[in-house]
Amino acid sequence: MTSPTTILLTGGAGYIGSHTYVALVEAGYQPLILDDFSNSDPEVLQRLQQITGREVLCQRGNARDRATLEALLTQHQVQAVIHFAGFKAVGESVAQPLKYFENNLGSTIALLQAMATTGCQKLVFSSSATVYGDPASVPITESFPRSHTNPYGHTKLVCEDMIAAQCAALPALRAGVLRYFNPVGAHPSGLIGEDPSGIPNNLMPFVTQVAVGKRPRLQVFGGDYATPDGTGVRDYIHVQDLAQAHVAAVRKLLAGADTFTVNVGTGQGYSVLDVVRAFEQASGKPVPYDVVARRPGDVAQCYADAAMAKAVLDWQAAQNLQSMCEDSWRWQSRNPDGYRKA
Ligand code: WQD
Repeated sequence: MTSPTTILLTGGAGYIGSHTYVALVEAGYQPLILDDFSNSDPEVLQRLQQITGREVLCQRGNARDRATLEALLTQHQVQAVIHFAGFKAVGESVAQPLKYFENNLGSTIALLQAMATTGCQKLVFSSSATVYGDPASVPITESFPRSHTNPYGHTKLVCEDMIAAQCAALPALRAGVLRYFNPVGAHPSGLIGEDPSGIPNNLMPFVTQVAVGKRPRLQVFGGDYATPDGTGVRDYIHVQDLAQAHVAAVRKLLAGADTFTVNVGTGQGYSVLDVVRAFEQASGKPVPYDVVARRPGDVAQCYADAAMAKAVLDWQAAQNLQSMCEDSWRWQSRNPDGYRKA
């Protein structure tokens, strides 16, 4: 009986990390979480054990700590790493840029150094469509120019460049860069989901908090964009599909693939009002809203050309907007205060 292949998930107790954890277990891997719980809740570990029926391997620690990373990579004979750890609030990054550069760049540098000294050679990096800035057209392919419109997006762009440079310096190192579009939804069990602290920056958690009665109304940021109904258009992707894309990326790298970069989106754009209507239908709950001024830094449209992920990973999104809304609502309605006990 060969021992299962251990995969380190930095920031693995977070929203995308926890859903990927479940998908990796179901695919026969042994995930190992490193998380400092600065942006996640230890309660997630209980939920993951409940879903998978297995003890959860987790080390509490900071992904910027090179010695911690080296110890984990060595002790657990880690075969591949998925680097989720990082701050991700656009607005906060504008207010506190050094916090973002220190954490997001620092953790990636420490991880690349630890992987080099321990001989771990497969890396999946959590990047973002935000590296495309304000695209000249849609759908967006991986060959589109990159730019940054905020420090958060800048850290993702620089991390991509650092990883590319390290792969050029160490040819045995292979990386899969996944550029997420807009992750939404939750595990169908309703046990894990998106749990932002404070006022949600992102659309779906704000919508679910209005529906559950935590917030009175949704503010729709801008009704005068050059889009079908004037509101912003985005490529919403179910977090379960996103988790499967990570499993496919790990599998590809472990099979010996060269370094790749792919968009992880559905290829379908939906407006803010499309999401509101779909959510009201899926939940049976009203989502009252007011159309207000545009949010600074927002772009009119951003959705993927998803062909490369299909070609490289043999992966494509399977879940539709209805299931994204149904699963988001099940999570929120069963956990009105997220992981914090009421
Ligand atoms: C979606 C649409 C808003 C909230 C950001 C980051 C990206 C990734 C996902 C980390 C836009 C509108 C939103 C609200 C609204 N984050 N909206 N009222 O801005 O596309 O992407 O989050 O990886 O990197 O850039 O996502 O959910 O904030 O906004 O009208 O209360 O919903 O204007 O059109 P965004 P979002």
